[in-house]
Amino acid sequence: AADPFIEKLIKSMSLEEKAGQLSIYGDTTRFDGPPINPTSEQAQGKEKVKADIAAGKITGLFNGIGVAGGRELQQVAIERSPHKIPLIFAGDIIHGVKTTFPIPLGESASWDTDLAMRTARAAALEATAKGLHWTFAPMVDVARDQRWGRVAEGAGEDTYLGIQLAKARVKGFQGDSLKAETSVVACPKHFAAYGAVQGGMEYNTADIPETTLREVHLPPFKAAFDAGALTTMSSFNDIAGVPSTGNHYLLTDILRGEWGFKGLVVSDYTSEEELILHGFAADGADATAKAINAGCDMGMQSGLYMKYLPDLVRSGKVKLAVLDEAVRRVLYVKKALGLFENPYRSLDLTREQTDIRRPETVALAREAGRKSCVLLKNEGNLLPLPKSGKKIALIGPFGNDKANCPGPWAVFPDVESCVTWEAGFRAVIGDALTVVKGSDVEAPIEGGIDAAVKAAKAADIVVLAIGEAANMSGEAQSRVDISIPAPQLALAEAVAATGKPVVVLLKHGRALALTGAVKEAPAILATWFLGSEEGNAIADIVFGDYAPQGRLPVSFPQASGQEPFYYNHRITGRPQISDDKNFKARYREVTNEALYPFGHGLSYSTVSYGTTAVNAPTLAMNGQIKVTAIISNTGSRKVHEVVQLYIHDKVASMTQPIRALKGFQHFDLEPGQNTTVEFTLTAADLAFVHPNLRASAEAGRFDVWIAPSSTGGTPASFDLIA
Ligand code: IFM
Repeated sequence: AADPFIEKLIKSMSLEEKAGQLSIYGDTTRFDGPPINPTSEQAQGKEKVKADIAAGKITGLFNGIGVAGGRELQQVAIERSPHKIPLIFAGDIIHGVKTTFPIPLGESASWDTDLAMRTARAAALEATAKGLHWTFAPMVDVARDQRWGRVAEGAGEDTYLGIQLAKARVKGFQGDSLKAETSVVACPKHFAAYGAVQGGMEYNTADIPETTLREVHLPPFKAAFDAGALTTMSSFNDIAGVPSTGNHYLLTDILRGEWGFKGLVVSDYTSEEELILHGFAADGADATAKAINAGCDMGMQSGLYMKYLPDLVRSGKVKLAVLDEAVRRVLYVKKALGLFENPYRSLDLTREQTDIRRPETVALAREAGRKSCVLLKNEGNLLPLPKSGKKIALIGPFGNDKANCPGPWAVFPDVESCVTWEAGFRAVIGDALTVVKGSDVEAPIEGGIDAAVKAAKAADIVVLAIGEAANMSGEAQSRVDISIPAPQLALAEAVAATGKPVVVLLKHGRALALTGAVKEAPAILATWFLGSEEGNAIADIVFGDYAPQGRLPVSFPQASGQEPFYYNHRITGRPQISDDKNFKARYREVTNEALYPFGHGLSYSTVSYGTTAVNAPTLAMNGQIKVTAIISNTGSRKVHEVVQLYIHDKVASMTQPIRALKGFQHFDLEPGQNTTVEFTLTAADLAFVHPNLRASAEAGRFDVWIAPSSTGGTPASFDLIA
């Protein structure tokens, strides 16, 4: 139903003011605390922004924080702009503000929706303490190609896992009420199929069939909107030739028509202007018309909407009703945030002091860090390491490194408070630790290897701190080769040649292709970028205070050339299922199996999985079937197990994934304890998107696994009957 307050406002606004409500800019005026002696350029920039706000030309600003500055600008909007419409302050709060949490991909390795909800809530607490109302997160793009740098910001390669985490993150950001001082409105992004860019190359085309779009890439968005997210961001890529920001079918027919989305769509940083370079629009005016007519309500950064919309409406190229509808959506979001009642919400000077780096937020960062680590390999139970009696050499560019600590896309981190790996280790083993850099991330350092070898020889155990720098993943950081940079590999080879036991701790924003001494090391722990508390979190795991419990949200390939490499691929007519390699779907150099599959992760105990069972041989279309298995802790330590449910549709009218995740549950088991795990499946869980674009299940036989990973478990079968 129309909101009388908003309708009245719209009726009284000029075309220029309306265009202003649809224009957001990166904030170069505010600082973390007021600048004591602003440069003249900064001072001028601020005056210009204030003049534009007073003229009603700006709806909000993004990626600047600070309560004093925010209040100053809000005051201009409230006291001097034509209709006193409050500004909205946005920011890329991807994994924390001052306190940083694991990158979203790392946190997704926890498979823990409650954790994801709590870190989003804690990030919202700090974001709102710093003056923000809107986060450009969560990123819910399904990413099946590890060459793409933005894999780091999402939930990985699987749609089901992505749905669960998308919902949790939206709930965390938005809290119980959007009006609360501590809530930010979420922006699931990038709509859509940005994770499907060809060759993993940033900004590239996503040439996918609509069945794949709907089955793989759209569901996390739908789930995020169903969870209440009121905004989204159009993606940079095109889908089968139509750039998202100009895609009426996507932004209007699907998003509004089919899904009933009531919120606003913002372009991604000049993507409306980029319609020109895409060759989809002739010039700025054409790009503006195409974007707003497609359903992109707000233009980010380019200024095109402000420049062209009033005249486009006057000339009839954009209907007034289209402009009004976009303005209506923007005002609706501002109203939902309570900005009209309280424009100074989340602009509280006291909270700016008290709600930043609260002890419980820092403790949560440590907990999240621990839960995000994935133990890939642990031959001879090398991990955990003893806390005394052994000399340990921590070798590699990340042993004592704060610069890379927050990881990619952390806009406002308090880098100084990052706990380095060295600090975390030293807190446990003190002087038994030696730290040597050995190499830079992408370049050797003079004498580095010699020093590292010397330290390795003098130690009992070597811990290699290697991987990617923060700027090697994230936006515009596609890689053609996802292995560890050569200078670090040389370091690893030299250190391994000493014969000392080597534990590899990986720092990374994607799955990596591991080779040589790194691949062969007896113990490998995937640590991603864990954020502020990384040193403590890793030490907790390495020295055994906590057992690792993470599971891979992305598959580790054998080699970069296998990408896109994901577990739930379809089956060819010539799969290589035996040793027979003749004319089979395979590469010459490596086997088809993942080095470490999706869902994989060891603990410090062992867990056995009994054969999967079903409670009936058949499932009716309107019925349900129970799937069970007994899992047992067969080791000597308590274990936290992430039990996974996979299905495979054996014969269907379209080729089906070899396995698809349909559920997961967490269990704690004491040594010797077992439990029966039970999942329930219905026909809806077995549905796939048909060429008519509808999802439905087909009668026939299904395999089902309760398993520790996408390649484990012993299946049962049942028939879905019409
Ligand atoms: O939110 C981001 C987006 O993910 C990538 N381009 C810039 C935006 C605003 O910073």
